[in-house]
Formats: sequence, structure tokens, C-alpha cells
Amino acid sequence: MSIVKEGLEDVVVATSEICFIDGREGRLLYRGYDVDELVQHSTFEEVVYLLWHGTLPSRKELEAHTKALTATATRRLPTKLMAMLRQLPKKTPPMEVLRTGVSALAAFDPDGEDNAREAMLRKALRLTAQMPTLVAAWERLRRGQSPVTPNPRFGLAANFLFMMTGRKPTELAAETFDVALILHADHEFNASTFAARVTAATLSDLHSAVVSGIGALKGPLHGGANEQVMRMVEEIAKPERAEAWIKKALDDKARIMGFGHRVYRVEDPRAKHLRRLATALGKQTGRTAYVEILNTVARVMGEEKKIYPNVDLYSGAAYACMGIPTDLFTPIFAMSRVVGWAAHVLEQHAHNRLIRPRAEYTGPARQAYVLPDRR
Ligand SMILES: CC(C)(COP(=O)(O)OP(=O)(O)OC[C@H]1O[C@@H](n2cnc3c(N)ncnc32)[C@H](O)[C@@H]1OP(=O)(O)O)[C@@H](O)C(=O)NCCC(=O)NCCS
Repeated sequence: MSIVKEGLEDVVVATSEICFIDGREGRLLYRGYDVDELVQHSTFEEVVYLLWHGTLPSRKELEAHTKALTATATRRLPTKLMAMLRQLPKKTPPMEVLRTGVSALAAFDPDGEDNAREAMLRKALRLTAQMPTLVAAWERLRRGQSPVTPNPRFGLAANFLFMMTGRKPTELAAETFDVALILHADHEFNASTFAARVTAATLSDLHSAVVSGIGALKGPLHGGANEQVMRMVEEIAKPERAEAWIKKALDDKARIMGFGHRVYRVEDPRAKHLRRLATALGKQTGRTAYVEILNTVARVMGEEKKIYPNVDLYSGAAYACMGIPTDLFTPIFAMSRVVGWAAHVLEQHAHNRLIRPRAEYTGPARQAYVLPDRR
């Protein structure tokens, strides 16, 4: 009899050079660099280069890479795609719009289904630049506003906030968003990355793998958790209600979003950065209640269950302080994780083997077919 590992828990399915997680110590490294240091010194654009190429860029390489990533031609959406977006019902959830839009972008991409490494890098660059435009355009279209043209003077983070509002973001908002993008860029064989790799391993194309990733990210046990956290904060509403609310939820055996992790046994190393920035943004915008509520919930979760915050606990509080609607939180996660998905698709194609596990069959033994009128 084979050993069944439900949810592939602790199963090592491949070697990878992209991302290292120490679940006991709470450490996360991209290509050997600690995310704590990347948050302090790097930018999202540089992290994109690091994840795709495996090394930090020289100054010249970084300039060329940033220029390509932020060029209006790279960021702009095809006119026909914009027309397609206008056809969608305004109530369509942004994550569905993103999944549909990315799939449609494949039809307009000049590299089509070309799976050569250089072609995939060009497609990954375009997708990373286009996805924020898509999300921001949808936000404006559903509000009955015209989309804002990308501004090549802004990096990915500031430009996204600019395209949402038409205004230059504050320095703190742009910095927070940049850090959030850095922290969500990759996380080893998480569910969406694995989904992307499974698709890539059939020798399918990059856009298909990214669509698989978006589909897997959407669920509340994965990227969708950040939206659920905000709904919890809205339900609790006041910091003084947080302790009683979480204790009752635990008594009711509820699953609390933004807590727990398959790999981390301690606090997720990304959570502290988002807590710090959400706290600062809360002070700047007068919305301190979000983080106060989350801190109380986190204290009780630690005391009563020894379950600690993950990346999704504080990100939403920061986004909400920037005026971003809750249903954009998971698309924002995807705007960053596309970088990791692309890095993994490149790695999968470099040493490909079809991913095709087995199941232990527990259905009925062989049965004789019975004709419909004899059943
Ligand atoms: C991420 C997650 C799916 C990992 O779960 P997992 O590795 O499959 O672990 P399990 O679901 O088997 O949980 C193990 C135990 O911890 C408890 N637990 C784990 N996360 C919990 C949470 N967020 N709230 C309450 N209890 C939780 C489970 O109830 C279970 O308890 P039990 O053994 O008494 O039944 C899980 O922690 C979760 O659902 N978290 C909330 C969703 C979330 O924030 N997702 C984003 C992850 S980055």
C-alpha cells in the first residue's frame, strides 16, 4: 500500500533554486537574499530581476530592466482588450476580471505560445507590467471613470496607486505598496505556484500557467485570505470589541483568516513588515483602528491557540488605509506573485518532467454494467 499524504503535506516534489523557507526560524530568502534585507534596501523592480535571473543586477542592468518594465508601451493594454473589459458586467469580481484579462492578453502577445527562455522572459515582463494596468483599469471602469494612462516616471508600486486614483501617491503609500509587492513575489511551492508549475510541466505556455496560478490564488485558504481578514475587521468594527469577538469565534471553532501556515510554525517573517507599515499608514490617515483590532486578535490567537499571523493579516489594513477596496486585495497579491510564477515556469521548463502523481483508489471494486431499464 502506498503512503497517502493528504494535501501533499511535507512532500518534497522537486528541487528549486528560487526560494528558501525556514518554517521553524521564520526566515524567507529569495535566491539566497533574506527578504528582511530586500525590504530595507531593494525595490520591487530589482526583486523581479533577482527572481528571474538568479542574481542581483548591476546598476546598468537594473536601469535597463526598470526602463523596460515601466515603459508605457509595456504597461499599456491593447485597445481591443480595453473594449472587452467594458463589455463585462460591472459586478464581476476583480479576480475574475484579472483571470479573464490575462487569458485574453495571450491572444495579443507578440511572442504568442513561444516557450523559448528569451520569449518567456519578454512575456513575463509584459504580464508583470500589464497586470497592474488591468486591475486599476477595471477599478475605474466599474466606478464609471475612464482608465488612467500609466506614468513611466513611476515604479510599479507608485504607478498602480496613480492609475487607481489619478493622483501621485504619498511617499509612505508608495513605499508600503512597494514593500508589499516585494513580500508577495514568491513563496516556494505554495498552491498557486504549484498549479502554475503543473500547467508548465505539460509544456503549456506562460499565460496558461499564470491563469492556473490566478485560479488557485483566488481561494480563501490561499491569496483570498487577505480579503476575508478585512471582512473580519469590518465585522469587529471597534478595537474594544476585538477580544470578545475572537474568543467567541475560537469557541465556535471558526477558522481565522490571516493566521496559520502549512510551513511556518512561528510568525510569518513577512507579517512584521506589513504590521509596521500598516501602523504607520493608519497613523497618517487616522485609521488606527484596523491595526489595533488585528493586534488584539493576534495576541489572543497566540495565547489561546499558538497560531501566528501570516502574510495576509496586515496587508489589507495597509491597502484599506490607501483607500483600496477589499476585493482588489487578492488581485494585488497576483500582481506581485506573477513574478514568482514566471520564475518557476522558467525553472520547470529548464528541467522539465511531467507532474503526474497517483491516487490510492478507494472506490467500488469492478462492477458489471447494468442497462438503464434494469436498474
Ligand atoms: C493556511 C492553512 C490552510 C494551513 O493549514 P494546514 O497546514 O492545512 O493545517 P490545518 O488546517 O490542518 O490546521 C492544523 C490545526 O491548526 C488549526 N488552525 C490552522 N490555521 C487556523 C486558523 N487560521 N484558525 C483557526 N485554527 C487554525 C486547525 O484547526 C487545526 O487544528 P486541529 O488539529 O485541532 O484540527 C490554515 O492555517 C488556514 O486555513 N489559515 C487561514 C487561511 C489563511 O490565512 N490562508 C493564507 C495562508 S498564507
